Amino acid sequence: MFSISLGDDGAQLRPLEPWQAAELLAHVDRGREFMGRYVAFPNAVHDLESSRSFLRGYAEKAMSDTGRIYGIWADGELVGGVLFRTMDVEHGTAEAGCWLEPSAVGRGLVTRAVRIIIDWAVEERGIHRVEWHVSAANEASIAVARRLGMTRDGVLRESYPHRGRRHDMEVWSVLAPEWRATSRAPAASRR
Ligand SMILES: CC(C)(COP(=O)(O)OP(=O)(O)OC[C@H]1O[C@@H](n2cnc3c(N)ncnc32)[C@H](O)[C@@H]1OP(=O)(O)O)[C@@H](O)C(=O)NCCC(=O)NCCS
Repeated sequence: MFSISLGDDGAQLRPLEPWQAAELLAHVDRGREFMGRYVAFPNAVHDLESSRSFLRGYAEKAMSDTGRIYGIWADGELVGGVLFRTMDVEHGTAEAGCWLEPSAVGRGLVTRAVRIIIDWAVEERGIHRVEWHVSAANEASIAVARRLGMTRDGVLRESYPHRGRRHDMEVWSVLAPEWRATSRAPAASRR
């Protein structure tokens, strides 16, 4: 399968497709509790059939050009992913997201992977605004948005019920001209 290198540590970004349902399920099972603290994504992948159906949903989004999903592999194992949950090419907007299992955090894998898909969305697909929706309590994900050079647009107060409480949801975004300015900055200033 073709892949994009995420750096000199051997990690790779690759398409994540319905035939990889078993691999996705095994990965989600390894990180279910951690990955589900602020997002419901792991609930959608609880057995082989639901995993296949989740990936089919993204295959359909790819077909209709309304979303994408990619996996992150480290040492040959699926350890996370990045996605466009939504993508509206006509209006030039997209919402990006990400996840990792615990063994893969703290290495910059998601920041590097999201940069690649935002580059594609902005430079090849003409997307003008990429959003990041995140629980105000999810500090690690907010740190990713900051590293990507996003701006906090605002807060949807108590808009997201999850695990028995309502979360304030922050909306972060980066606009195409801002993205281009950030991507041209020296790598060392972009961590
Ligand atoms: C959100 C989530 C993916 C962030 O994981 P992460 O490992 O902190 O993010 P990255 O892969 O970008 O790595 C950044 C970390 O690696 C470090 N790092 C090392 N090398 C790096 C590099 N080359 N570039 C960037 N960061 C690097 C950073 O300093 C940072 O560590 P720190 O937080 O201790 O400062 C993870 O917490 C997660 O999966 N949470 C559960 C699912 C979830 O909430 N998803 C988001 C929904 S909005």
